[in-house]
Amino acid sequence: MPSLNEIRATFLDYFRAREHLIIPSAPLVPQNDPTLLFVNAGMVPFKNYFTGAETPPAPRAASSQKSVRAGGKHNDLDNVGYTARHHTFFEMLGNFSFGDYFKEGAITHAWTLLTEVYGIPAEKLCVTVYHTDDEAADLWKKIAGLSDDKIIRISTNDNFWSMGDTGPCGPCSEIFYDHGAHIPGGPPGSPDEDGDRFVEIWNLVFMQFEQFADGTRKPLPKPQIDTGMGLERIAAVLQGVHDNYDIDLFRTLIAASKALVGDGTNGPSHRVIADHLRSTSFLIADGVSPSNEGRGYVLRRIMRRAMRHAHLLGAEEPLMHRLAPVLIAEMGEAYPELRRAEPVIVETLRQEEERFRRTLGRGMALLDEATAKLPEGGVLSGDVAFKLYDTYGFPLDLTQDAVRAKGLTVDLDAFDVAMKRQKDMAREAWSGSGQAAASGEWFAIRERLGATEFIGYDTVEATGVLKALVADGAELTEAGAGKTVFAVFDRTPFYAESGGQAGDTGEVEWAEGKGKVLDTQKQAGDLFVHEIEVTEGILTVGDQTRLAVDAERRLTTRSNHSAAHLVHAALRHVLGPHVSQKGQLVDGERMRFDFSHGGPLTAAEIDTIEAEVNAVIRQNLPTLTEEMAPEEAIEAGAMALFGEKYGDKVRVLTLGQALEGEGAYSVELCGGTHVARTGDIALFKIISEGGVAAGIRRIEALTGEAARRWLIEQAGVAKALADQFKTPVSEVLARVDALEAQRRRLEKELGDAKRQLAMGGGGGAAPAAVEEIAGVQVMARIMDGVGGKDLRPIAEEFKKQVTDGIIALVGVAEGKAAVTVAVTGAAAAKFSAVELAKAAVVAMGGQGAGGRPDFAQGGAPDGAKAGEGLAAIKAAIGG
Ligand code: ALA
Repeated sequence: MPSLNEIRATFLDYFRAREHLIIPSAPLVPQNDPTLLFVNAGMVPFKNYFTGAETPPAPRAASSQKSVRAGGKHNDLDNVGYTARHHTFFEMLGNFSFGDYFKEGAITHAWTLLTEVYGIPAEKLCVTVYHTDDEAADLWKKIAGLSDDKIIRISTNDNFWSMGDTGPCGPCSEIFYDHGAHIPGGPPGSPDEDGDRFVEIWNLVFMQFEQFADGTRKPLPKPQIDTGMGLERIAAVLQGVHDNYDIDLFRTLIAASKALVGDGTNGPSHRVIADHLRSTSFLIADGVSPSNEGRGYVLRRIMRRAMRHAHLLGAEEPLMHRLAPVLIAEMGEAYPELRRAEPVIVETLRQEEERFRRTLGRGMALLDEATAKLPEGGVLSGDVAFKLYDTYGFPLDLTQDAVRAKGLTVDLDAFDVAMKRQKDMAREAWSGSGQAAASGEWFAIRERLGATEFIGYDTVEATGVLKALVADGAELTEAGAGKTVFAVFDRTPFYAESGGQAGDTGEVEWAEGKGKVLDTQKQAGDLFVHEIEVTEGILTVGDQTRLAVDAERRLTTRSNHSAAHLVHAALRHVLGPHVSQKGQLVDGERMRFDFSHGGPLTAAEIDTIEAEVNAVIRQNLPTLTEEMAPEEAIEAGAMALFGEKYGDKVRVLTLGQALEGEGAYSVELCGGTHVARTGDIALFKIISEGGVAAGIRRIEALTGEAARRWLIEQAGVAKALADQFKTPVSEVLARVDALEAQRRRLEKELGDAKRQLAMGGGGGAAPAAVEEIAGVQVMARIMDGVGGKDLRPIAEEFKKQVTDGIIALVGVAEGKAAVTVAVTGAAAAKFSAVELAKAAVVAMGGQGAGGRPDFAQGGAPDGAKAGEGLAAIKAAIGG
């Protein structure tokens, strides 16, 4: 029986032998496509080849593409675990023709692979075609010899595939496998097609149109082929099982889960865990972190759904991170990014599960509270159910189950309304959460001109010919002084923003004019676009120009970028291999480096990181840059960014020598500009460390002259303090400590003195007067200069004198009034301190008072009314 890994390999070998270029899976986060949350089909990375915006690397291609469907158009999350074939993550096997073969080729390839290579008996297969597609129906008859009853015409959207609301689309033909009469269900198009007997295994899409956001649809330049076969489904067929979760990979994952938490009685739980382990691990490996928005939010919901099931199974410790190594052992060969990211995956899962275990308890408490007052047969509010779902990761069915036990139901309509509201919001949040799509004109220019030659690694000045000018989305031939335009040259020394390094700025000159380069950005992949403000003369396409990068800014940027690499390596040494880069910004000012880590760094850790980086700077070794294939580089141990798509050749940058043991200090894939020797960085100083989101920290640092200036400023502050205290800098701290101790002592002495004064003129003086109101002993006093804080100990002192009665004090400090009332002895049975204090507060224009029946305090804004406050208390006592 072929394993999942063998079935995948057979597919790719088959198409390789038929002149298809095998393309490695793209990362799950779509590159250059803000319209899509995750890659959800094999064709997504090729979208621009289908529409003609970009030229494909070969006319035919095939891939096994990682796909996630958990949000957006193809959303399977809620079914996963309960059905035989839903997954949040799956692998889509596909072959693609970019204007090469069409329907006949696609059908021939598919049929031959299924029946001759995989050996599926022809009588177990039937197909559907779009109802008007006679051509496809005829081809199936001719190529596969299928009888008419096995070629089913479908008129619905099931046989018209589109990637999303926009993008390439076309009629499709699906191949179904008949799992046998023992399973209920009818063939597609029949009344009982919803049964599970006939299972779609392969979808052949005849791409013919591009769908636009305004509802219009245009024919593609050439008809194309996009096919998709779920690897898990075909594996089920070839392994003779009906349920995807019974294939080898899932058996292994489920067995591992059972070994850790036991069999459990909860049917879907192990399946949910196995499925979600895949999607979450792959998403983390592609650079997604759990968060409360966009992609990170979808990841969090999937993770928490699995974690709740682990909890349901009785897992006492976080479970998911202990399963990740099993998955990586199974799939790491085909997807090496999983191996690279293993420490990050494990740590992210562990932290999130610990975090979720805290909210899980709160969610249960919220549910208990919301249901406590409901009568038998009552209805739980849809908002509460939604909050549990959304915030605490409780799927609706869990909430329903939990309340059912108490004879309650959930208000489903209100839940749906809340869900819709959230989805609308989420959709808004997604659009634009990715990189901005390069607009059409840039792709057209890229097709015409080819990639810009970047010569800025070796120089900051060069000549270049102006090839294209764009302003307001349209191409121009010239631009005059005062205008700001976007310009493309045949070659340039200007670095375009990428990999977190800011775009270069500088100047451009030509025979009769000049301009300022305000920024440089990349468009359509490798087109370097300069934002230029023309300051003199007219800039014309075809002009020979002199391009000069702001050299000083570039130099600092280089230092900051190299320092960021050193920080990355130092963080992994000092904190551990779970640290992964989550973003960086290096420019002419500073470096900012974001990374995954559970909590704040200690002062000692920061100090060690800083010391390591500076030690490598002092090695002053030359920077080594090599070009190689990405796989080769990663194999050699270069750190690559998770989820980054690299070209055929990558630059590998080596900095410094390991501080202990053999080898280099830092080896990373990087297209940025760097120092020639580590010593060029001169000095490195971390100026801040803090959290930016759960599990993500940020370090900001300076290098070279900026670091020196920062240190000088700090030293200047210390020097100014020393001058003020007339003491050497080394003693400033001791002086401040001494002053602080003195301040505290004086404050205490002052408080004591105020109290003494207020209580009747100093230690041991005559006791203050006590009056009698309605037969009750009352000590009522206004105390100038005494704030609320000091009234309490005074009242305590007076309680010694008035052992059965009332103490009412109104203190006046800084224009405000504070009231303290104490009731002692038998009086406590008749009077409430809170009520009396409140009477005073209200009389003075305040709100209320709080405390115990025998002791209460309050405050009012107007100290001038102290007399009225005290009178109000007396009146209340007098009844
Ligand atoms: N893109 C097609 C699908 O996902 C093949 O079904």
